[in-house]
Amino acid sequence: MSKKKIVVLTGAGISAESGISTFRDSGGLWEKYDIMEVATYEAWQSNMDMVIEFYNQRRKQLHEVKPNAGHYALVKLEEKYDVHIITQNVDDLHEQAGSSKVLHLHGELKKVRSSADESIVYELEGWELKKGDTCEKGSQLRPHIVWFGEPVPMIPMAAEISSTADIYLIIGTSLNVYPAAGLVNYVKPGTPIFLIDPGEVHASHVPGVKLIKEKAGTGTPKLVEELLENAK
Ligand code: APR
Repeated sequence: MSKKKIVVLTGAGISAESGISTFRDSGGLWEKYDIMEVATYEAWQSNMDMVIEFYNQRRKQLHEVKPNAGHYALVKLEEKYDVHIITQNVDDLHEQAGSSKVLHLHGELKKVRSSADESIVYELEGWELKKGDTCEKGSQLRPHIVWFGEPVPMIPMAAEISSTADIYLIIGTSLNVYPAAGLVNYVKPGTPIFLIDPGEVHASHVPGVKLIKEKAGTGTPKLVEELLENAK
């Protein structure tokens, strides 16, 4: 018999216990930085130095952290399920933990791309992107990040994956940012939906969701144990 499909939508909260700041919690990144000054194309055009430095700091930090029990539990889930992770995170902690199917909605911190041709993408060696680093066509390299106001090219694929889930998990996201927060609308009616998050999440648009008010590092391994048990 083929394995049931579990689709997992993750956000900054799953990486919080690894030491990466979330965006909207108290002390989160958007309290310290102005989104418009570091995470938009307009910012890139008007203050490239600041944008490069912001992502260099995020990338440097990523080289210093490790996956946590939440990431590892999702790897274990693959023993009995066909697990597809859709992450809003730009870190690579799901991959580092060993998850096999990970789709990044908002880009990847360790990658950079040509500012003239978005199909030219490179893995950056080390953490530092510099002004003057160019692609093979001579254009400045930019972070491989989906900035506010930019299209989210992976959304159709993520919607398709969401629509074929047998079970849907949402972990560590405030569900504030669209179109990612709207992916649950593609889940077939009647599909069990679990949401693990210790905070207040805008989940009123998620019908029948089972809220688990715990941190990812403890809530995820528990739920995974239950799901593995149920798959027997
Ligand atoms: N375990 C699980 N969830 C946690 C934990 C934890 N240890 N700590 C915090 N959280 C939860 C918070 O309660 C909150 O609901 O993580 C969520 C983080 O929300 P946001 O900071 O809004 O992050 P996210 O939802 O991923 O943001 C979406 O917004 O800024 C953009 O592009 C960025 O991908 C990001 C998108």
